[in-house]
Amino acid sequence: MDGNDLKFLCIGMVCLDELLYCKYYPIEDCLQRVLERRLRPGGNAGNNCKVLSELKAKCDLLGSLNINCTSGRIIKEHLESFGINLDKCDYIEGYEVPIATCIINEENGSRTSLYYSEEWPEVSYEAFLKIDLSQYSWIHLEMRNFDELDKIIPKIAEWNSGRRNPVPVSLEMENYDERCMKYMSYGDVIFVSKDFARDLGYNSMSAALDGFYGLLKPGASLVVPWGEEGAAARSPGGVFFSPAFPPEKVVDTLGAGDSFCAGIMLALAKGRPLEQSLRFACQVAGAKVGLRGFKGLGEVLRQRGALLD
Ligand code: FRU
Repeated sequence: MDGNDLKFLCIGMVCLDELLYCKYYPIEDCLQRVLERRLRPGGNAGNNCKVLSELKAKCDLLGSLNINCTSGRIIKEHLESFGINLDKCDYIEGYEVPIATCIINEENGSRTSLYYSEEWPEVSYEAFLKIDLSQYSWIHLEMRNFDELDKIIPKIAEWNSGRRNPVPVSLEMENYDERCMKYMSYGDVIFVSKDFARDLGYNSMSAALDGFYGLLKPGASLVVPWGEEGAAARSPGGVFFSPAFPPEKVVDTLGAGDSFCAGIMLALAKGRPLEQSLRFACQVAGAKVGLRGFKGLGEVLRQRGALLD
């Protein structure tokens, strides 16, 4: 399969981000004029797909979506403008799409999210079962919604175990939850966020690699993105570090981690070694934080000569 035939399935959250680009972080009890306001789909899986699409990879999103409400329609229209396929989504009715109001401080790109959700049914096992997994080169899951993932992840493992060429699976552990721990031994690539690692007392990339690597299945890779310090990874092939690639000015860090994950997935799916994939992912995340949103990310990477062929 050459690079252009690659197809990804991203399973996880889609919400509506209300992005408020601000000159500086607001002072409590003061009035501040917002520089720009945008309504955009967010959620890790939605963001993964946007980045993969910017990098010219085909991807299907499996998130739950209600398109019979204004926010759902905005999400659909925007994601489809990236070329993301939403046919596999779990379409639901009668629930308001979760909303995250995100203050983006343009002084340093920091993002502060205020997340609001009423009862929101996340992706169901039933929706997952409708998908023919054999069409994918990679399956990525965001670790949340454990009641359903407890059925979905073992099902993928069972399906893969009967195959001559199993489809690589990556799992993103972003927010610490003890239910994540048993899944460390499931994926081919495990992403552990800096916050997740720190919650368990691992305060550096090396400590995180040492702390989690033993939990992985044989042959799997552990990847720990560490913000402006870059990222590290460990596999049977060795331990690797990459610096960050910050742009001239950091303007928007919302979704930087999602961009990083998408970058690694794409590079590994294209057969690149882990060390090179790690570097590429840091370049993708670095390019993203120099942009408001994700549109144009592929072009920035092209201009920097960082795209994979
Ligand atoms: C960024 C993000 C935002 C969303 C929030 C949901 O990683 O996916 O787009 O508001 O996280 O947790």
